[in-house]
Amino acid sequence: MAVREQLIEYLDQNIDQYIRNWKKKIRISESDIHRDKVEANGVMMYQLVQTNIKNPISDEKLIMLAKKVAVERAEANINIGDFIFNVNAGRSVLMKHMTYSGINVEDLQAILDSINELFDQFSYHAVTEYTKLKSNELQEKISFIDETHQEKLSILGQMSSSFVHEFRNPLTAIMGFVKLLQKEHPDMAYIDVIDHELQQLNFRISQFLHVSKKEIDTGYEEKIEVNKIFAGIIEFIYPSIVDIDVEIQNTIPSGLYIFGQHDKLRQVFLNILMNSLDALKEKGFPRKILLRGDKYEDVIHIHISNNGPMIPPETVDTIFEPFYTTKELGTGIGLYVCQKIIQNHKGHISCMSDEVETTFTITLPVEKSDLRA
Ligand SMILES: Nc1ncnc2c1ncn2[C@@H]1O[C@H](COP(=O)(O)OP(=O)(O)O)[C@@H](O)[C@H]1O
Ligand SMILES: [Mg+2]
Repeated sequence: MAVREQLIEYLDQNIDQYIRNWKKKIRISESDIHRDKVEANGVMMYQLVQTNIKNPISDEKLIMLAKKVAVERAEANINIGDFIFNVNAGRSVLMKHMTYSGINVEDLQAILDSINELFDQFSYHAVTEYTKLKSNELQEKISFIDETHQEKLSILGQMSSSFVHEFRNPLTAIMGFVKLLQKEHPDMAYIDVIDHELQQLNFRISQFLHVSKKEIDTGYEEKIEVNKIFAGIIEFIYPSIVDIDVEIQNTIPSGLYIFGQHDKLRQVFLNILMNSLDALKEKGFPRKILLRGDKYEDVIHIHISNNGPMIPPETVDTIFEPFYTTKELGTGIGLYVCQKIIQNHKGHISCMSDEVETTFTITLPVEKSDLRA
């Protein structure tokens, strides 16, 4: 009998033995939803090898089996390492199995070579397909996350504008009447405190206003002296500065100008300063805030530093995400709004933090920023 026929017959008669030996070696996870198909796949591979001994099989047949297995492996979400381990176990058990066929090694050699080739091709196609399926799956997950993120932002925008309008109108009226009272009764007790608290409230509410995209995109630009805008903000938050006992050092030179929407840029600096005050509350004395500003080529840099607690390195980028907050009463939209406003001014905002200090750096072009329509 020719060697090939003899081998095929041997394989026919001893398939159970092979499968038993192979199954002793393979790794199958308890949670594998297709674990019952693994044996059948082994049998199919074995039969493919048999057929291949008779007549080299077409690539399509091999690829079909490889893809079928890859789909199952991907669905079962198994470790690809286990899969390759099992295929290799199949190969080595088969090699050993064949040496028991009684056919001498020289006669077997050519056949073994082609079987090895078959296994290599099978692994290659299965892993390629598996990787493709897994990366598609990942891509789908990513776009799902992006979509929900966008949805969150759009809900936030809608909520904000109705919220702001409900609150803003009565607030504006109250602030107007307080101003009138102040004028008519300049010595009235507590009226300054009421006025100041109302302004703070107004500021907090405005923060939500800036979240809606429409609000960020509109407004008129002007030339602003950096020093002046900071002087106004420091005056505004002066009670808190005294209360928290913070030393503010302002080294921004006079004559440094930026171009942009005054109220929006004010909001950015105010947000960062209020965050700095919040952070400083968390630590002992001395508590310091340092303001620096300079112009380098066509770009203005503004640095706002405080010697408060460090923001962990893995969090430094997250703080600009909407809703990220570590404060009990935080909204987590302050820095998100800052970033949007600065980006709309064609600028950039970043944060660096270590044990010594936390610094927010804002860069803005000197020229008219030509806001996006
Ligand atoms: N200067 C700072 N020092 C330390 N942490 C800060 C500082 N500024 C911001 N953060 C962190 O970033 C988070 C997000 O800030 P923000 O967007 O303004 O929202 P909120 O102030 O409502 O928490 C804060 O909760 C805080 O954890
Ligand atoms: Mg804040």
